[in-house]
Amino acid sequence: MTTTHNTPVETRRAPTREKILEVKDLRVHYKTPGGDVIAVNGISFHLYKGETLGLVGESGCGKSTATAGILRLVQPPGRIVGGQVLLNGTDLVQLDEQELRKLRWTEASLIPQGAMNSLNPVLKVSDQIADGILAHEPKISKAQLKERILELLNMVGLPGRTYDLFPHELSGGMKQRVCIAMGIALGPSLVIADEPTSALDVVVQRVVAQTLLDVKDKLGVSMILIGHDMGLQAQLVDRIAVMYAGNIVEIAPVKSIFEEPLHPYTQLLINSIPSIKERKPLKVTEGLTHDLRTPPPGCIFQFRCPEVMEQCRQVVPPLRELRPEHFVACHLYE
Ligand SMILES: Nc1ncnc2c1ncn2[C@@H]1O[C@H](COP(=O)(O)OP(=O)(O)OP(=O)(O)O)[C@@H](O)[C@H]1O
Ligand SMILES: [Mg+2]
Repeated sequence: MTTTHNTPVETRRAPTREKILEVKDLRVHYKTPGGDVIAVNGISFHLYKGETLGLVGESGCGKSTATAGILRLVQPPGRIVGGQVLLNGTDLVQLDEQELRKLRWTEASLIPQGAMNSLNPVLKVSDQIADGILAHEPKISKAQLKERILELLNMVGLPGRTYDLFPHELSGGMKQRVCIAMGIALGPSLVIADEPTSALDVVVQRVVAQTLLDVKDKLGVSMILIGHDMGLQAQLVDRIAVMYAGNIVEIAPVKSIFEEPLHPYTQLLINSIPSIKERKPLKVTEGLTHDLRTPPPGCIFQFRCPEVMEQCRQVVPPLRELRPEHFVACHLYE
């Protein structure tokens, strides 16, 4: 079939895009007295160069742990128990601490969850941004450093006078922009932003999200954007990965996720969008989920699934590509 001018952009570009990140069967556990909490239960996905992938799912499903795993930032009692994280072909799981330090922030960076509330209150904005740059480029001249910081502030839409301000002199949106500036300061090719807009009010949320995307386009970086607001994600990302209890249950281009959600959990998530707009916590269905220390045999969503079948109680559904680029882990489609 020949490509026509009417072919949607996604389907024309997607198959030829180069993968910058490949996560294969990543597993992260937290050791607790009652047994290991299986926070990330063997997730696999890839990210194309220049793409934005949304990672969604309700609180506690393992989004932050997954990204900490990707950047090897998991803190004890957590640990990576298996899998590969290939960044431009290099497996980060296998690197030693020194090799990792060289890569972090220069190749891949994280804007952590709640970052704007963790800015150092006694340091000026310029000094906080300078810290990260100096750690990697200790020989940079004072003039060059200042120029670089002003350029970064400008890129995230902050006025030059922000340079001399302290965190308490900034609004929430401005603080979050400073965190974005810190995340991109060393020109990484991959940026992971963990709920960068959750703590902001709705209007500022959209403005900051737009800043993030503008920066992404200007620098040509690839991005993983964690969030629980499906409505906001719809406007920002190219593809969405849906997580439930440590597993990716569906991953697809944003258009397919909204037009034809396949997993019953994704369907519930999408149906709950109006309530998310009222800024209620993302809780889509009644019933308790299982204890993450003792996952049941079979599908992890079986206790809350409106379409549960006998097979779901026994066999784990694999993540399969049902349509081009549309993956789902559900027995309904076998
Ligand atoms: N230090 C820890 N010890 C034990 N369990 C932990 C620890 N940190 C996280 N967990 C568990 O790991 C699971 C995943 O947590 P994580 O913070 O990755 O979820 P999340 O999807 O980022 O949630 P949120 O949307 O609230 O940020 C949760 O069930 C959580 O209780
Ligand atoms: Mg989190």
